[in-house]
Order: sequence, then C-alpha cells, then structure tokens
Amino acid sequence: MASATRVFTRALRPLARQAGGATPRAAAQRTFVSAVAASKRAVVAAPKFAAVQTRGVKTIDFAGVPETVYERSDWPREKLLEYFKNDTLALIGYGSQGHGQGLNLRDNGLNVIIGVRRNGASWKEAIEDGWVPGKNLFEVDDAISRGTIVMNLLSDAAQSETWPAIKPQLVKGKTLYFSHGFSPVFKDLTKVDIPEDIDVILCAPKGSGRTVRSLFKAGKGINGSFAVWQDVTGQAKEKAIALGVAIGTGYLYETTFEKEVYSDLYGERGCLMGGIHGMFLAQYEVLRERGHSPSEAFNETVEEATQSLYPLIGANGMDWMYAACSTTARRGAIDWSDKFKAALKPVFNDLYNSVKEGTETKRSLEYNSQPDYREKYEKELEEIRNLEIWRAGKAVRSLRPENN
Ligand SMILES: NC(=O)c1ccc[n+]([C@@H]2O[C@H](COP(=O)([O-])OP(=O)(O)OC[C@H]3O[C@@H](n4cnc5c(N)ncnc54)[C@H](OP(=O)(O)O)[C@@H]3O)[C@@H](O)[C@H]2O)c1
Repeated sequence: MASATRVFTRALRPLARQAGGATPRAAAQRTFVSAVAASKRAVVAAPKFAAVQTRGVKTIDFAGVPETVYERSDWPREKLLEYFKNDTLALIGYGSQGHGQGLNLRDNGLNVIIGVRRNGASWKEAIEDGWVPGKNLFEVDDAISRGTIVMNLLSDAAQSETWPAIKPQLVKGKTLYFSHGFSPVFKDLTKVDIPEDIDVILCAPKGSGRTVRSLFKAGKGINGSFAVWQDVTGQAKEKAIALGVAIGTGYLYETTFEKEVYSDLYGERGCLMGGIHGMFLAQYEVLRERGHSPSEAFNETVEEATQSLYPLIGANGMDWMYAACSTTARRGAIDWSDKFKAALKPVFNDLYNSVKEGTETKRSLEYNSQPDYREKYEKELEEIRNLEIWRAGKAVRSLRPENN
C-alpha cells in the first residue's frame, strides 16, 4: 500500500511544462507535435501508472443509497495528455481556485493559459507563480479567444459582470467550464444566459483552491463533484470527469448544477463557516460573561475542538470521537446534541430557503460587484481578527509545542 502510494506520487511529480497559448485553429495544427510529445511521455510514464490501476468507476453504498463514484486511476496522465492534446485550457481568474487548478493543470503537462485583468492582484500573483505575460498569461478576452475550453474561475460576481463581453466569444466548438453552478442556475439574477451550441460542464473541488494545490503536491487528490449543464457533443460528461482529474481531484461524485450550488451555498453559510463561527462566538461569550478567562474560554471552545476532537470525527466518525472521550463528556454531549439540533434546524431551513429563492445569490452579486469589495472585506476580516476570541486564539496558538 505504502509503496503503491510512493509510485503514484512519483508518477505525478511535476514536469513544470510551461504551456504556450494557441487559438483553436493553432491548437488543431499543433496536433501532430502534441501527439508525438504525448507518446514520448507515455512511454516513460506508462509503467508507473499501470502499476496502480486498481480502482476506477465504482458503485459505493452510501448508507444504503448506491452512488457511482469516478476515480482518477481511470485517467492516468498520459491518457489526459492524449485526450486534451488539441485543447488550450483558458483559465479565467486567478483567485484561490485559479491558483490551485491552474498550477495542477500545468504540472500535469496540459496546455493551460491564464486570463486575468492586467496589473490586478491576480496578474501579479500569476507572475509570481511563473506564468509569463504573452506566453501563458493574457488579459481575459485574449485568453478566451485562444482557448478551446474556457474555465471560468472569476469570482461569481465577476462572472455576471463580465458576461456581456465573454458571451460573444463562446462560439460553437468551445466548452465552458465552471467550478460552481451559481452563474447558470441563477441566470435570472446573474444574466449568464449560455449559448445553446456549446458544452457546459462543472467540476467543483470540495475545498479551498489552496487545498486543491497542497493535496496534489502531496500526491493525493481532493474530493470533487462534477455535472453537465449542456451536452451538445455527447462528450460533455467524459470531458467533465477528465478535467476534474486533470485539476487534481481524487474522487468525483456526480451531481447537477442545481444541487451543487444549493448544497454549496447552504454548507458554507452553515456548518462549514458561518454556522460554526456563530456557535464558537455564542459559547465563548457565555463563558466570558460567566467569569472565565479568555484562555480558558478559547481552549474550551476552539482549541480542543480543532486540535483534538474534530480531527477524530474526520478520521473515524462521531461515534468514534464520543468513544474516545470520558463517559461524563459522552453522556452530556449525547443529551445536548438533540437540544442543539432542535434549536438550529429551523435556522437551517430558513437558510436553505434563502439559498433556493436566490436571496443569497442576490446578496453576493450586489456586494461582490462593488469596486471596493476587497477593501470592504478586509475591514470585516480586520474586525474578526480583533475580536477577543481570536486575539486570545493567537496567544494560545503561539504556545503550541510546534510554535515554540
Ligand atoms: N474558493 C473556494 O474555496 C472555492 C471552492 C469551490 C469552488 N469555487 C468557485 O470557483 C470560482 C472561483 O472562486 P475563487 O475563490 O477562486 O475566486 P474569487 O476570489 O471569488 O475570485 C477572484 C478572481 O476574480 C477576479 N475578478 C474579480 N472581479 C473581477 C472583475 N470585475 N473583472 C475581472 N476579474 C475580476 C479577480 O481578479 P483581480 O485580482 O484582478 O481582482 C480574481 O482573479 C467561483 O465560481 C467559486 O464559487 C471556489
């Protein structure tokens, strides 16, 4: 098992090929050269991948419900290179996902170019990551015109804002890719009305683009979901899966654009981010109001959760975490979880309604379209950073053995 993992890691080791941009026509002319290059690479890499071809498409029983899961071992690197040999992947936007997906595609040897605003924060970051202006870094329109697969990783608000300029360039034969169902699903609000003659696919990594990158570099892969919005070529599903593997996912779950966007907006506002922050704050404030010190309140609210108990849930589930704690803790936790569930379920139902009705989308579009959205977020994050709980957290973290 361990040696198979090592073999896989070595096989994924970056080649750091810097891809050049090309128009779709030029991409076709490149076919012969790419095919020769790909076949040479395949000769070198094939045995390593062949050694780990043990998994693939699987039907898994998820608590009694069978679901099909797609796994990257069906798409070894040489197959990806062959599959995308005529394509230029124009990745638009270089935020967290653009960074992770773009670098992974580049390291996988695919022909990827970046499109961002000249001299914006992303342009500078892309240069720091080794993208070269005029070679594989372009302005958005220029990149789209060179791409056969347009990977729209602009912020969701920017996808809506820039759509009038992007739409005319999405001519027949191109493929449009998203990492979120937001723009097409809420098209009444976003105005992203997609031409009917192109394939439209989605791959949404289940995590930050930073993790997409760090897991890839570690030879692992993040979980992701994929979906098809429009299939005019009959190849859309296959393309979505192949691209999902190429950007660095390990397992891919099939979904729809609607289900992806509803569950994603709901989850990040709930247990993943907003809900958990609200719960931390409520618990911390009560402890402080009842006379506990900042360090005690922080340790009992955040530190023990993130450092000890949540990783146990992640590793083996809730029952395992309960079993790893004292009978006193277990009794109270099991009793109180029902009360928390009863109190919170109406809030989660309100949240789901707000997502489905488009209220969350409207809010996101309005706020994130403001020219000074970055400054405004920085002000809000500064306020959070300065809350007593997180200042106490900084002091507690500095005392961790690894930070001494
Ligand atoms: N982050 C995640 O964890 C995550 C996970 C899964 C899926 N997704 C999805 O992936 C997509 C990208 O998200 P992200 O978090 O990587 O990026 P993001 O931070 O939301 O967006 C950043 C990018 O949008 C560009 N941008 C913003 N306003 C623009 C405008 N008016 N014109 C042109 N460019 C503009 C920025 O360029 P400048 O630097 O020039 O401003 C930057 O390159 C979204 O659909 C998101 O929902 C994100």
